[in-house]
This record gives sequence, structure tokens and C-alpha cells, in this order.
Amino acid sequence: MTQPTMIETNQTEGIQKMLAEAGYSQQAIQYYIEKPHMGSIPDAELKSEMTGTCGDTMGIYVKMNNGTIQDVKYEVMGCAGAVSAAMAAVDLIKGHSLEFARHLNDGDIFKVLEEIPVKKHHCIQLAVKTLHKAIDEYLNPA
Ligand code: FES
Repeated sequence: MTQPTMIETNQTEGIQKMLAEAGYSQQAIQYYIEKPHMGSIPDAELKSEMTGTCGDTMGIYVKMNNGTIQDVKYEVMGCAGAVSAAMAAVDLIKGHSLEFARHLNDGDIFKVLEEIPVKKHHCIQLAVKTLHKAIDEYLNPA
């Protein structure tokens, strides 16, 4: 892994400062910058996507192993709030059952993120609803 260049470091610091001033906690900012669960899983058993009222879209991929959620990835075409909420959701449900994940709610994610701007709270809902949609489609195929 190569070291970040001076320009990249400055850009990251600039983003951190901007998000902190906008009302994001350090935890939320870290999720946004590191994006630890961003991407796709080609052989995922659960896949879905949803577009929020803001027009932004999320995709989700869930890989199961013996009834347990082994891995989850989100693709997020959305804001910093959406990215951080999706990343937090993965950390909350990995290693648990689909039943557990079906009960994940906005408050659970907000507790992990600690603080994001009020006008970004619907972005948390998008992460939760996308997850619930994938589970519902998997359990009740059309
Ligand atoms: Fe659209 Fe955050 S997901 S504004």
C-alpha cells in the first residue's frame, strides 16, 4: 500500500474539517472517509437497491453463511450521511441473523454515528430501508 501524497492528505483534512463544521461526528466522518464496506459481492444471496426521496440511490449485497450474515457491502450514490449510515449498518448486522437485521432501525445507526446534521437523518432511513427491502425480497420472492 502506497503512502498518501501531500495533496491527498490535505484533501482528506479539508473534507474532515468541512464535515465537522456541518455537524458530523468524528465517527461518522471516519466511516465516510474510510468507506470500509463499500462495494459489491458478486455471489451475494441478497441483493437489492432503493432510491430515496432525495433522488439518491443505494445498492446492497448480503452474503450468508449457515443462517448468519457473513458479509455486507453497500454501493452508495449519495451524500456523506448516506455513506456513513450504510457503513455503520454493516458493522451492526455482520455476524447476526437476518431476523436481527430486519429489526435494525434508524435509532440503532444514529447511536453509532453519534451525530450527523438533522437534514441528513433521512439518509439513515435510506440505509435501513434498503437493507429491509433486500431481506423482504429474499424471504418473500415474487
Ligand atoms: Fe440523498 Fe443523503 S442520501 S441527501
